[in-house]
Amino acid sequence: MSEEIDNKKIVVFTGAGVSAESGLQTFRDSNGLWNNYEVNDVATPAGWENDPALVLKFYNERRLEACEAKPNDAHKAIARLQEEYEVVVITQNIDDLHERGGSEHVIHVHGELRKVRSTKDEELIYDIGADTIITGNLCEKGAQLRPHIVWFGESIQNYEISVKHIRTAGKVLVIGTSLAVYPAAGVLKKARYHAEKIIVNLDMEKKPFGYKWIRGKATSVVPHVVDLWLGGKCVV
Ligand code: OAD
Repeated sequence: MSEEIDNKKIVVFTGAGVSAESGLQTFRDSNGLWNNYEVNDVATPAGWENDPALVLKFYNERRLEACEAKPNDAHKAIARLQEEYEVVVITQNIDDLHERGGSEHVIHVHGELRKVRSTKDEELIYDIGADTIITGNLCEKGAQLRPHIVWFGESIQNYEISVKHIRTAGKVLVIGTSLAVYPAAGVLKKARYHAEKIIVNLDMEKKPFGYKWIRGKATSVVPHVVDLWLGGKCVV
């Protein structure tokens, strides 16, 4: 892939806030998941070691919620950008609302709820849709299945390819993320100086250098940014 910046290429980088108005809880807002669950119990290798049934129950519930949720106006607006641009969605989200909202090129860096994998061979990945898994559900090599999710202390997925894409994007649109989790948040720092870079978020503790922050809800703001970019104008 060439390192040249392409004005017809957009990277959209998203977090839980883009799915909040589809009814899915974020992690760190006041009603967020990490206020109601102990991260170490459900999202770490040690938690899995200690109580796999609890971890499976947690992700079974998340999977069911995500399957019942519908893409919102922000997910759908992002897909409209494909009319005029090459669009790569890089998401920290484990739901599939971007795909169901019409985005064709979606890269998941923290895994996918619909998928489970073998604890013996990480290449053995299965799409289970809305199904649940319990202890005793095994892969074809006889090992327990686990969620295909990146837990704290595990390696992020698709980091290098995400950096390659953002390095060549003429525009970057960031939506609904606290940017609290690295290395995923660090991908944004790899965007080019001359790229147009916008963040749509309800609040922002530390804005990355060179990004303009538009404060507001994803479903209210994102369709306008998309209209402007499809109309060829600049957001100021
Ligand atoms: P967070 O919960 O940390 O942040 C959500 C962000 O979305 C906050 O900055 C909110 O202000 C914003 N927000 C909430 N509702 C919004 C709305 N309707 N419109 C626009 N913005 C809104 O979620 P993430 O940044 O996605 O990782 O969290 C990053 C990672 O932490 C997740 O991928 C997950 C979690 O631990 C793993 O589990 C590995």
